[in-house]
Amino acid sequence: MEGGILILDFGSQYTQLIARRVRELGVFSEIRPCDAPLEEIRRCGPAGIILSGGPASVTAARAPLVSPALFELGIPILGICYGMQLLTRLHGGRIGRSTQREYGRAELRIGKRSSPLFTNVRGNSVVWMSHGDSVLELAPGFAASARTSDGTLAAMEDRRRRFYAVQFHPEVIHSAEGKKILKNFVIGIAGAARNWSMKNFVAHEIASLRERCAGKKVVLGVSGGVDSTTLAVLVQKALGRNVTAIFVDNGLLRLNEVEEVLHSLRRLRLRVTCIDASARFLKNLRGVSHPEKKRKIIGKTFIDVFYRGLRDFDFLVQGTLYPDVIESNPVQGPSQTIKTHHNRVAEVRRLERQGRIVEPFRFLFKDEVRQVAKLLGIPSDIRDRHPFPGPGLAVRILGDVTRRRLDILRRADDIFIAELKRSGWYDKVWQAFAVFLPLKSVGVMGDERAYGNIIALRAITSLDGMTANWVHLPAAVLEGAAAQIVRRIREVNRVVYDVTSKPPATIEWE
Ligand code: XMP
Repeated sequence: MEGGILILDFGSQYTQLIARRVRELGVFSEIRPCDAPLEEIRRCGPAGIILSGGPASVTAARAPLVSPALFELGIPILGICYGMQLLTRLHGGRIGRSTQREYGRAELRIGKRSSPLFTNVRGNSVVWMSHGDSVLELAPGFAASARTSDGTLAAMEDRRRRFYAVQFHPEVIHSAEGKKILKNFVIGIAGAARNWSMKNFVAHEIASLRERCAGKKVVLGVSGGVDSTTLAVLVQKALGRNVTAIFVDNGLLRLNEVEEVLHSLRRLRLRVTCIDASARFLKNLRGVSHPEKKRKIIGKTFIDVFYRGLRDFDFLVQGTLYPDVIESNPVQGPSQTIKTHHNRVAEVRRLERQGRIVEPFRFLFKDEVRQVAKLLGIPSDIRDRHPFPGPGLAVRILGDVTRRRLDILRRADDIFIAELKRSGWYDKVWQAFAVFLPLKSVGVMGDERAYGNIIALRAITSLDGMTANWVHLPAAVLEGAAAQIVRRIREVNRVVYDVTSKPPATIEWE
């Protein structure tokens, strides 16, 4: 990362956003845990270092710190929130609990002395604050460079040593001048190299795959989703015939999905082997109704089928994305509850120790993968598919997963999605699907009262799946889908629409 920006992570929910913003400036950035060894930091050769925010109090006995030797490297530093308090504490200033926790919008007022951090930044602007501590006394060598409208210290600097700090979060969109402030640090102060682009990234990854794996046997798993398809195309482009893609049919996929996925992967000229393990998955799931138990069983069965079934290969390529990588961060912020489905399995750790895991996307975010997909010429019907959970329809059938229920759900889901596509709504929503409810409600069929199953429909918009809003689909679209579902699926006599957002509800029903 010579000439890029290194971000030391103290556990803020916004750390990934900092990395994003730096990349948007065309500069490579990488996140490392705050306790990364100094030698490693030096080896990276960053043009600048950003100390992220974090949930801890810098005054706490076990507050995460950095080695004071970091400040002797002569590298420009920007401290954000916790980073600012840390700079203060380690340089002999004083920190105290704020009388009230500041959270949300504040008015930034830049001081009279023009600071390189605020070049071309408006004198007054809105910033996003979120902190419980504040700097009561500046450390020797530092001067205040901005305050909020109520007089709270909002920015400080030691220009001689090129240390800068802000109490607010320039990386979040609510800080109106945030991008400019980050640019002033990254380009103006640190002089980082602007040589990051997706095109360079693709060329670089292809070259390094060839260097590492040429002439070797390479395997990777594909699901039909955008990440694994893009990865497979990239690897294929780099290594050609030595690549085998493996697709596991877990029996929990949507209507005709297996055929469609295989068809579209083969259309991209990938060599795909399909393992039909559906009977094994369904057998292991028999009688299990607890959602997390289902996930565990599906995860374990997948490991048995995929990793333990792997024979005769040199390298396993994985589609790990950046959010997965930094979820193994030692500082646990509020955003970092580790998802069970991302935990690394023992098989992978063993291969890792042997140096046989390759992860070309480990520095990318999801939407960056979409850009790579576009560069690689992957058609839009694959690029724009809605996300689909690893445990598949098992978490969309409340209660036991049976063949009969799967069959009903598949047909209902297919009708709903077709209706969304027909009406032009598919591309306007982030995710949409049907859910099977294991209840019977009363209905009339002909002259008789009959008990039938209930299907719930859900459509949401979201940026990243962390929060979501339910979509106000036109009544005609909902009615069209509902009418077809009850007409074509004999077992269903009632369709309902989910009008809850996340939070408090999750996107999936289980
Ligand atoms: P929730 O339901 O947590 O979903 O609001 C957020 C996003 O994650 C997907 N999801 C999963 N994906 N394994 C996955 O690979 C899982 O166990 C899982 N659970 C939820 C969900 O579809 C949504 O896009």
